[in-house]
Amino acid sequence: MNIVVVANFDSMSAEAAKIVYGQIMRKPNSVLGLATGSTPLGVYKLLVEYHNRGMDFSRVTTFNLDEYVGLGPDHPQSYRRYMHEHLFSKVNINPERTFIPNGLAEDLEAECRRYDELIRQAGGIDLQILGIGTNGHIGFNEPGTEFGSTTHVVDLAESTIRDNARFFESIDQVPTRAISMGIKSIMQAKEIILMASGGSKADAIYAAVHGPVTTAVPASVLQLHPSVTLVVDQAAASKL
Ligand code: GLP
Repeated sequence: MNIVVVANFDSMSAEAAKIVYGQIMRKPNSVLGLATGSTPLGVYKLLVEYHNRGMDFSRVTTFNLDEYVGLGPDHPQSYRRYMHEHLFSKVNINPERTFIPNGLAEDLEAECRRYDELIRQAGGIDLQILGIGTNGHIGFNEPGTEFGSTTHVVDLAESTIRDNARFFESIDQVPTRAISMGIKSIMQAKEIILMASGGSKADAIYAAVHGPVTTAVPASVLQLHPSVTLVVDQAAASKL
């Protein structure tokens, strides 16, 4: 694992955005795996700036890690809406090449299989961006998720519901289920960037990097991936 420790959120975002930029320059038809949450917001802002200076997204394909079950594309907290607001509506990406699990699908199992098949048809993910939950989750793969998992329906951990309640009017409005790319789907990406900022992530980052590889800390599986760059600010790296 290549570990890059930087001063703060802004420099973390700049480091990660640089890697995404390099990827798209090398391969204009790259397939990117995208994450949501507060962590990648600075990266998306920088990608929009790069686009305003001429960077071309027209041949890029994206797959998001996850979506809440029950939230449609117009719901303010759906990940489809998040991606639209922070990136897709601001760059020249073809909307037909932006994929996010459909949280409103009637047959959720079929939706999971469809999503895996779409990733396969796109040729797999070239570069996956990841944040990390305070409990070590990646995507919405909560502790205990099998390393062999592909896209699946998840019951969100209590701690995740609490962490994410800040985005909703009340904790009761946080969905209790999500569709998430599985650990295996993530591990099949050719290259991965794991980002973390702030002291609340320090324990999860320590366990992911130095702890045993265990399903109790989903991010620890990344120790087995051949091409991971960890980009963390000093607070998130404070226990390394
Ligand atoms: C969310 C998302 C993850 C994200 C994580 C951290 O629940 N499903 O993909 O990495 O939690 O979120 P944040 O970046 O807001 O700390």
